Amino acid sequence: MKLLITGGAGFIGSAVVRQYIAETEATVVNVDALTYAGNLDSLAEARYHPRHQFVQVDIRNRGAVENLFREYRPDAIMHLAAESHVDRSIEGPAAFVETNITGTHNLLEVARGYWSELEGKDREGFRFHHVSTDEVYGDLGPNDPAFTEETPYAPSSPYSASKAASDHLVRAWHRTYGLPVVITNCSNNYGPYQFPEKLIPLMILNALEGKPLPIYGKGENIRDWLYVDDHAYALRNVLATGQLGRTYNIGGRCEHTNLEVVHAICAILDRTVPDSAGPYERLIQFISDRPGHDLRYAIDDTRIATELGWQPKESFDSGLQKTVQWYLNNPAWVERVRSGEYCEWMRQNYTNRETNTTESKATKK
Ligand code: NAD
Ligand code: TYD
Repeated sequence: MKLLITGGAGFIGSAVVRQYIAETEATVVNVDALTYAGNLDSLAEARYHPRHQFVQVDIRNRGAVENLFREYRPDAIMHLAAESHVDRSIEGPAAFVETNITGTHNLLEVARGYWSELEGKDREGFRFHHVSTDEVYGDLGPNDPAFTEETPYAPSSPYSASKAASDHLVRAWHRTYGLPVVITNCSNNYGPYQFPEKLIPLMILNALEGKPLPIYGKGENIRDWLYVDDHAYALRNVLATGQLGRTYNIGGRCEHTNLEVVHAICAILDRTVPDSAGPYERLIQFISDRPGHDLRYAIDDTRIATELGWQPKESFDSGLQKTVQWYLNNPAWVERVRSGEYCEWMRQNYTNRETNTTESKATKK
């Protein structure tokens, strides 16, 4: 099988590529624009494998996407390329509209033209797998039931609105043109090779440098945490056996408040690399909240569990331990991704935020 994977130099995409190369016979055409979030170092041993080919293409460029399909003639496409960080979408939504909506539209149109000319088994087997987020469903109250595939869309941020729009396009291309699609909506991923703008790697790296651990609001927001390799395995499963036109929610069965997550990271660091200055949680700092901050996400994974027999393998304890250890073992990767652009983002997002000292003192684990 020849797979075209977009966003394969990003956090989740690189995990998917590494798995396909290591565990299957598939050939992977890895398509990525290499934005600040893309990094060929994340491909590790897959990078120079004979079944892996990297092509630098921006999915906003329709002509370049057409050339890709003409040249590589894939059996399926798994689409992960996206602008993915909520805080960046609040600072500058245009790139989210362009990549997540227009880029997905380009892929759909080019895939439709390509698929319509396929015949027999090639046409029957072709798939367009769109990778999306649980954030399209909006947020939940503390006691609300988890998101199912039937939960109405109610995105809050420019990021989730752009992902919701792309999901709608993919569904419409299935219903109107019959394009053979599958869609997955997953919860917050964590694990090795995640760009340190996201909560877990940011906290690990700041703690190691003795910098403040910036928690938005009161740290009461709840996320469901999914280990990235569990997610990659689920994606392979859905692409291989998911029902056409169907959506599958993927979660980690692991809900925690942000404060619990940061305390858990601090506890692992206290055990692994104790700091003579004191426990790492001394660095916790509560800062002004993210505008429109979703309170809680939770996934009902009944469909993928019962129809496809998938469930997460990693517990939060074991996954977080592995993740912290990976960042400790890979300072060279960390140094390379923390370029000038990263410093600029850290300055932009964190320097003008108000620090809420009352909260810092009042809130304990
Ligand atoms: P990421 O930001 O780490 O990687 C995104 C990749 O897409 C990067 O390699 C980047 O270079 C590439 N890219 C960006 N714009 C592009 C463009 N115009 N053309 C080609 N490539 C481009 O993101 P991630 O965390 O790996 O997320 C992958 C997918 O999973 C995204 O679609 C995201 O919305 C979705 N998702 C992520 C999470 C999460 O917790 N990380 C949760 C739910 C869904
Ligand atoms: P993030 O990793 O950006 O993922 P998402 O917004 O897609 O859920 O953030 C996870 C949670 O952590 C979210 O509730 C916002 C919070 N957060 C902080 O409290 N401080 C930070 O510096 C960051 C980046 C996130």
